[in-house]
Amino acid sequence: MRRADAPAIAQAAEVLRRGGLVVFPTETVYGLGARALSAAAARRIYRAKGRPSDNPLIVHVDGPEMLPLVARRVTPLARRLMAAFWPGPLTLVLKRAPGVPDAVTAGKSTVAVRCPAHPVARALIAELGEPIAAPSANLSGRPSPTAAAHAARDLGGRVSLILDGGPCREGLESTIVDARGRRPVLLRPGTITPAQVARAAGVPIARPGRGAPAAPGTRHRHYAPSCRVELVSPASVRGKWPATGKDSWLLHRSRAGSNAPARRRRVPGPIADYARALFSALREAEAAGAATLFVETVADRGVGRAVMDRLRRAAAG
Ligand code: TXA
Ligand code: MG
Repeated sequence: MRRADAPAIAQAAEVLRRGGLVVFPTETVYGLGARALSAAAARRIYRAKGRPSDNPLIVHVDGPEMLPLVARRVTPLARRLMAAFWPGPLTLVLKRAPGVPDAVTAGKSTVAVRCPAHPVARALIAELGEPIAAPSANLSGRPSPTAAAHAARDLGGRVSLILDGGPCREGLESTIVDARGRRPVLLRPGTITPAQVARAAGVPIARPGRGAPAAPGTRHRHYAPSCRVELVSPASVRGKWPATGKDSWLLHRSRAGSNAPARRRRVPGPIADYARALFSALREAEAAGAATLFVETVADRGVGRAVMDRLRRAAAG
């Protein structure tokens, strides 16, 4: 792990140039990066994460200028969304350019692209001079890393270098939108909300039809710490708790009622703060040896939709 100063970023670019793997910060979560235009480099990502080979990677560019290397048929809709949200936590699905290896797109005819806002991510792409393929820097199925130490815990020893750029500002993965048509299709909710996407697009979001493809990765079990995750309503958090045992942990926004688990973290205030704290709380409860982590639910709208998406997956199974 190295502080992400200029010499460290130069070293990271050199590792990538030789086909190696580097963990780097973005404003959403930490990414596990490799050269996007090299099939061999991209395949190393799947091996390091234990990622199913049918789950494509997001390609990171340092601006719309790099897009032709990665995507074709950039639609007017995509241009509007890029103008509104890049650099930032929005990923666009477009038709794939011929130079992108199958290993990156899992053989699909489309590619997911985003331009991160984090200065370290942008400096790294610029220094390499090429797009970087990067999934979240966790072992497959684990909570996404929102700090360098999280990535080190999962991937230390499997990567050449981890750039530490501090905690992530957003804390949830990017919003993914299929921008190939006239209307945006939401494939994964994130901190850029459906309402914001629709406003920038100038047209309403199209609901994917039944059986229509979501982002492949959203089908897999996800975000699971080693403890059991149980969702509780705000009313239940505020009410009288049944006996929960010493090995329980609580992440909440509301004031906790009597008998609530003694070990807890409260993040009141804006939903964005709760979103930012979510993945690190999962890992904190796990590290504290909790058997059950209770998590307060939020209203399923705006940023809350992304929070609930991650919470339901963490609690599933
Ligand atoms: O914020 C983020 O997006 C972070 C940072 C590192 O950029 N990355 C990230 O990557 O969350 P990952 O691999 O954990 O999630 C990528 C998601 C998966 O659900 C994958 O199936 C979907 O993007 N995806 C990738 N390419 C796609 C495509 N061509 N069509 C639809 N979904 C795609
Ligand atoms: Mg991920």
